[in-house]
Amino acid sequence: MRIAISTGGGDAPGLNAVIRAAVLSAVDRGWHVLGIKRGYMGLLGEDDVIPLGRDDVRGIGHLGGTILRTTNRGNPFRYPVKQDDGTFLEVDRSDELMDNARNLGIDALISIGGDGSLAIAQKLATKGLRVVSVPKTIDNDVSGTITTFGFDTAVTTAMEAIDKLHTTAESHDRVIVMEVMGRDTGFIALHSGVAGAAHAILLPEIPYSVDKLCDAIMERERRGRTFDIVVVAEGAFPAGGEGSIIGASLPGQAKRVGGVAEIVAKQIAEKTGKECRSLVLGHLQRGGMPTGYDRLLATRFGGAAVQAVEEGKWGQMVALQSPDIVTVPIEQVLGKPRRVDPNHDLVRTARRLGISFGD
Ligand code: F6P
Repeated sequence: MRIAISTGGGDAPGLNAVIRAAVLSAVDRGWHVLGIKRGYMGLLGEDDVIPLGRDDVRGIGHLGGTILRTTNRGNPFRYPVKQDDGTFLEVDRSDELMDNARNLGIDALISIGGDGSLAIAQKLATKGLRVVSVPKTIDNDVSGTITTFGFDTAVTTAMEAIDKLHTTAESHDRVIVMEVMGRDTGFIALHSGVAGAAHAILLPEIPYSVDKLCDAIMERERRGRTFDIVVVAEGAFPAGGEGSIIGASLPGQAKRVGGVAEIVAKQIAEKTGKECRSLVLGHLQRGGMPTGYDRLLATRFGGAAVQAVEEGKWGQMVALQSPDIVTVPIEQVLGKPRRVDPNHDLVRTARRLGISFGD
């Protein structure tokens, strides 16, 4: 048996732990493993395909990033080719990929990635590639699994940043608005905001009103609390308005958002007269060592993916459905991204603790 492993899309702490667990589990069965570099690039002749053995995965389980590298530009069905005039033309290179996989003698592929990679894996499965997926995203927006590895690490990083902001915000009687990742969903903002005891949390799932947010800030001031921490998901937007979209996406790439913290901080300053500062936590949330929780989940996913290959569960994704790791058909989770339920008990609890959602 010869399997291949690839990591695609934005990285997430825990990718290396998945790779390590999958390689060791495969080697234990006497299988051979190939690592496809940079998403599917290695299978398109744009990067390398490398053998992965015990020695190659030694000491990587605690490291962030991915030893296989990754990209969010390598969709083989919509591969962007730059034209002479600077524009991009999308080309379908999936047949080429299938040929290369066949020539390399790949019996099955373990594709580790988020919603974009899952969609690609599903399309490759319909072309005959025997593929098993491992869900990955710090945003926690893949359905079918209770959570994904990387999310806990991102929440911990954001929570620690909030802890640090508290002391400086209080010393200066300032409002500090911190932007966290979450293009379409506010899980990182919600979890880190509640864990870090923020005073307001803005999510894409609950459109905000700056007036309501400022009311909450002034109400706190009346109670003698002269500083505030506002955590805002990068994809949050005002009721009846639009999110802050930046940069032109390349074909096949998701929209890029950002800058909402700065906008909200300016608006709060104008309306309340309070001194405001903003920061974007950015890619710090994707970097660094995975937490113990993420290492364990990633390790379980890696082992389960190899077992799924052994059982011929093609077109399936490993998933956490506590206390078990199960497999679910990829097509069942596609197009159904997970979102924060505004009625979730964490949101309701946060409201009872006095946290404003700006609504
Ligand atoms: O991993 C998903 C994500 O964290 C989004 O929340 C964010 O918008 C995006 O990645 C940014 O990724 P990049 O800078 O790599 O395009």
